[in-house]
Amino acid sequence: MPNLQGKVAIVTGAGRGIGREHALALARAGAKILVNDLGASLAGEGTDQGPAHDVVREIEALGGEAAANGENVAGFDGAKRMVAAAVETFGQLDILVNNAGILRDRMLVNMEEHEWDAVIEVHLKGHFAPTRHAAAYWRERAKAGDEVRGRVINTSSPSGVFGNVGQVNYGAAKAGIVGFTLIAAQELQRYGVTVNALAPNARTRMTEAAFGEIPPPADGFDPADPANNSPIVVALCADEAQHITGQVFFVYGGVVNMLSGWEAGELFASEQRWHPDALLQELQSRLPDGAAPPGMLESMHRAGGQSMRER
Ligand SMILES: NC(=O)c1ccc[n+]([C@@H]2O[C@H](COP(=O)([O-])OP(=O)(O)OC[C@H]3O[C@@H](n4cnc5c(N)ncnc54)[C@H](O)[C@@H]3O)[C@@H](O)[C@H]2O)c1
Repeated sequence: MPNLQGKVAIVTGAGRGIGREHALALARAGAKILVNDLGASLAGEGTDQGPAHDVVREIEALGGEAAANGENVAGFDGAKRMVAAAVETFGQLDILVNNAGILRDRMLVNMEEHEWDAVIEVHLKGHFAPTRHAAAYWRERAKAGDEVRGRVINTSSPSGVFGNVGQVNYGAAKAGIVGFTLIAAQELQRYGVTVNALAPNARTRMTEAAFGEIPPPADGFDPADPANNSPIVVALCADEAQHITGQVFFVYGGVVNMLSGWEAGELFASEQRWHPDALLQELQSRLPDGAAPPGMLESMHRAGGQSMRER
C-alpha cells in the first residue's frame, strides 16, 4: 500500500458511491480526509449532511481522521471555503479528488435548458472551482519554497471519452473535464502538482437509476464494486507517481486502461489550400464505408471492460 501518512485529501461527493470508496481507500493509506458532499439527489436537488457525516464516522472507525464538508462544489466561493476548511482543519492540502456529480439524462431533441445547465455546472464548474482554489494554495506554497507534491484526480466517464446516447449534457461535461485535465496538468506541473482523470465504472445509485438493479455475483470478484475504482487514485497520490500527469484511466473491475486521447490520425496533406471537390473525392475514396463513432459499448469492450448496462 502506498504510504500517504501525513497527507491531507479533499474528496468531493464522498458521501456515497465511488467518492465514498476513494475517501475510505485514501484514509486506509494514511491520509486525513475532508469528506465533501452536498447530499443532493441524483438530479442534484436538495441537501443532506447525513452521507458525509456517515463516511467521517466510517473513517474514524478505521482509526483515521476525517471531517465533513457540505459545500456545493460548483460554487466558486463555496469551493474556496472548502479548500480553506481542509487547510484550517488539518494544516495543509495535498490531494483533491473531484468526484461529485449528478445526472439529468435526456435525448438531445428533448433536452431542457435547465437539464443542460445543471449538469454542466456541477461537473465542469464543479471541477474548475475546487481546482482553481487548490492550485492557488499550491502555487503560494511553491513560491514560499516548499516542495509541493500536489495531486488532482478528476472524474470523467466512458460517456465523455466514448460518447453515450442520451447523455449529451453529461458526456459534454465529462469530455470537457478531460480537456480541463490536459491543460491543468501542463499549467500546474511547474508547482509540483499532477492532474489526472478517471473514467470509472461501478454499481452506484447513478448506474442503477440508468440501467436498473445490478446484482453482485453470488461469489467471487465483483467487477461492479465501486471500490475497484480507488486503487489507481491511491497509486497516483503516492510520491513515486510525481511524474505521471495529464492521463485518463478507464477502470472496470480489475482492468485499468490508460486511454489514448485525441491524436494525429488520417492525414490529408497538400502543398496548397484544398479545393472542397478534391477533399470530398479524397474522403469518399479513403472512407468508402463512411465514418462514425463506434459507440460507448464497443469502445468499452476495446478498453477491456463492459458497460454496467450489460451486467
Ligand atoms: N457509477 C459509474 O459507473 C460512473 C461512471 C462514470 C462516471 N461516474 C462519475 O463518478 C462520480 C461519482 O458517481 P457515483 O456513481 O458514485 O454517484 P453517486 O450519486 O452515488 O455519488 C455522487 C455524490 O455527489 C454528491 N454531489 C452531487 N452534487 C454535488 C455538489 N454540487 N457538491 C457536492 N457534492 C455533490 C451527491 O450528493 C452524491 O453523494 C460522478 O462524477 C459520476 O459522474 C460514475
